[in-house]
Order: sequence, then C-alpha cells, then structure tokens
Amino acid sequence: MTEKIGYGVFGLGVGRSHVSGALKADGCAFVAICDIHEATLHRVGDEYGIAPENRYTSFDEMLRRPDIAAVSICTPSGMHRDHAIKAMKAGKHVLTEKPLEIRLERIDEMLAVAEEERRLLGCVFQSRLAPAYRFVKETIDSGRMGKLITCNFHLKWYREDSYYRKNGGWRGTWAMDGGGAIMNQTVHTVDLMQWLMGPVSSIFAKTGTYTHDIETEDTAVAAVTFENGAIGTLIGTTCAYPGLEVSVQIHGAKGSIYMSNQRIVLFKMADDDSDFSEEKRVLELYGPNRPKEADAQAGIKTGHAGQVQDMIDAVIQGRPPLIEGREGRAAVEIIQALYESAKSGREISLPYQPEVVGV
Ligand SMILES: NC(=O)c1ccc[n+]([C@@H]2O[C@H](COP(=O)([O-])OP(=O)(O)OC[C@H]3O[C@@H](n4cnc5c(N)ncnc54)[C@H](O)[C@@H]3O)[C@@H](O)[C@H]2O)c1
Repeated sequence: MTEKIGYGVFGLGVGRSHVSGALKADGCAFVAICDIHEATLHRVGDEYGIAPENRYTSFDEMLRRPDIAAVSICTPSGMHRDHAIKAMKAGKHVLTEKPLEIRLERIDEMLAVAEEERRLLGCVFQSRLAPAYRFVKETIDSGRMGKLITCNFHLKWYREDSYYRKNGGWRGTWAMDGGGAIMNQTVHTVDLMQWLMGPVSSIFAKTGTYTHDIETEDTAVAAVTFENGAIGTLIGTTCAYPGLEVSVQIHGAKGSIYMSNQRIVLFKMADDDSDFSEEKRVLELYGPNRPKEADAQAGIKTGHAGQVQDMIDAVIQGRPPLIEGREGRAAVEIIQALYESAKSGREISLPYQPEVVGV
C-alpha cells in the first residue's frame, strides 16, 4: 500500500485552496485545519466536511499531532517566519504561501531552521505549474530563442480600497504585507520573471500610492537588468480599473513570445520553417481557447492543488519540493531591492543586502 500522510493547513483565507487540494491529493490520509478565528474555522470545516477532531483554533495543538507530517502556512505574510519555524521545530515539513516572508533576514532564518531540522521548506508560486508557462520555460532553456534581449512583465490589477481594510487591515502595511502591489500581488510576476529570464543583476524603480489609503505602494514601475545582459520592464499596480491582465512579453534574438494571463498569444520562432503552423499548434495547445478542463483531463494538477500534491509527494519520496524556499527568497530579494531603489533614487545591484525599508 502506498504511504499516506496527514496534512495540516494554518490560515483559512487562501488556505481553503490548500484544503481542497489536500483533500483530493494522492498520498493524503486526512486534512486538519487551523484558524484563530473560530467562525472561519467552522465555516471552512463544514464546507469541506472536515471532522470536528481535525479542527483547531490553536496552532500549537495542531502541531502536537504526530500523524501530521506537513503543513501549509497561509497566514498573513509577516507571520510566515514565526509560523513556519514553529512548525519545522515541531517536526513538520512546510509549504508557505507567497511571499515566503516579507524580509530577507527572516527568510534566511527560515532556511537555516529547515536545514538544521532537516525539514522540507517549499514556497507557493502556483503560476509556475501552468502548462503554458512550463512550455515557455522549456522553449527559453532549449536556447531556441537565442540570446535574450528584452522583456515586459506587467501586472495590471484592480483592488477596491475596501480590500485593504478587511481582515484586520493587514494588506498594504509594511509590517504585515511587507509592501503593496509589488510584494503582495506582483510577487508572482517577479518570480516568473527571474525564473524565465534568469537572475536579476540590478533594478531601478519608481513607486507611488495613487488611489488607495495605504502605507505602501499601489503602483510601481522598474527597469530591470539581468545577469545575462537582457534588459526589461516590470510594472505592478492595483489601480488598473476594472482589473486587467498579467502580460509577459519576451524577445530573444531568434524568437518572441507574448503571454496574456496564463495563455500564449504569440509565438514566433526564427527556426520555424513550417510557415507559422507551429505557432498555430502552440496557440491551440496553450492559447486563450485551451479549455479550462484540459489540464484535469490530461491528469495535470495545476494551481494550489498542484503545489500541495507536489509537497505531499516530496515528503513521501524524500525529495525537495518543486519550488524550494531559496527560490522564494529570490523574488523577495528583487522586491526589497526595488523598494530600496524607489526610496533612494538609485539603481540597486543584486545580491542585495537590505537596509530597513518602510518599517
Ligand atoms: N498564492 C496565491 O495566489 C495567494 C492568494 C492570496 C493570498 N496569498 C497569500 O496567503 C497568505 C494569506 O493571505 P489571505 O488572502 O488568505 O489572508 P486572509 O486575511 O484572507 O486569511 C488569513 C487567515 O489567517 C488566519 N490567521 C491565523 N493565524 C493568525 C494570526 N496569528 N493572526 C492573524 N490571522 C491569523 C486569519 O484568521 C485568516 O483566516 C498571505 O501571505 C498572502 O500573500 C496567496
């Protein structure tokens, strides 16, 4: 019989997606849930049919369960270090929501504890599991696009002011969100940028707070230089009414790819001698008309369900998770450098040693 493990989820906002993913995951014996807010705990527990003995308002109590091998940390971002370290010290493997934490020195503490306790530490960046992004990654890594020249990674979303006030108002604060549109929303896009284009060598940014009553930025624009010499732009905003797309455009010397959200909308390769029928095939597979159910039909788990499945598989197989903690660190390093650039008016080089920003 294949091994099965108990899986815990702490924090039941986006944590609900971890609960539904774990309930459907191969290798999951049962799901336990925890939230300090009792009404939320029972609402989610009832919605997913979680047995009363697997519901907790105390994280410590849930962590005392020896039959839970791994937990997802889905609490506000500025709490991830404390919660992840507590879980690892209690012997659990940990999958932490993005951003891994809001400051590099805290992430370094988490990585050190993972090593000391020999626990797995994974980070959620579920966009990386989208088949179109995986295909773009393979295409770039194959060298087909030639030398990378330039790129745009732009997130144009919209959030009402009320979004920043709800749930205790932790979003848009330096102390708990670690930033605004970039640290919270655009962190996914920053991760994709460094995953696809390669490591960032410097960043020059401007940020502003345009339509929201928050401490942090709701808009940022940055010029980014990569270690491979490519240059590009990064934009993130929560002011783009009514909420538009994440667009990614990548140009190499021998090819160009455009993406809108998680779909490929343009695919031009210089070595395509098939009169552009390759583009037609790529768009059929990964374009806007790809049916929503295509992944499920192909047996591919994407999104949070895919990341929770990967974490459970990693624990059972004794291998690292797909997106390890140190990859979660890379995005936060770029973002802290971006904030430092906007604050100082200087271009900031990476590796970046942070000064105290905001808080
Ligand atoms: N991967 C994604 O697409 C995605 C989407 C949304 C949020 N997130 C991340 O998930 C985390 C949670 O965000 P959210 O939108 O679910 O937040 P939320 O405010 O909706 O939910 C957080 C939950 O944590 C609970 N909680 C547990 N312990 C707590 C404590 N000690 N103090 C305060 N609250 C506590 C709250 O009661 C609440 O139910 C953040 O790090 C966020 O960046 C990721």
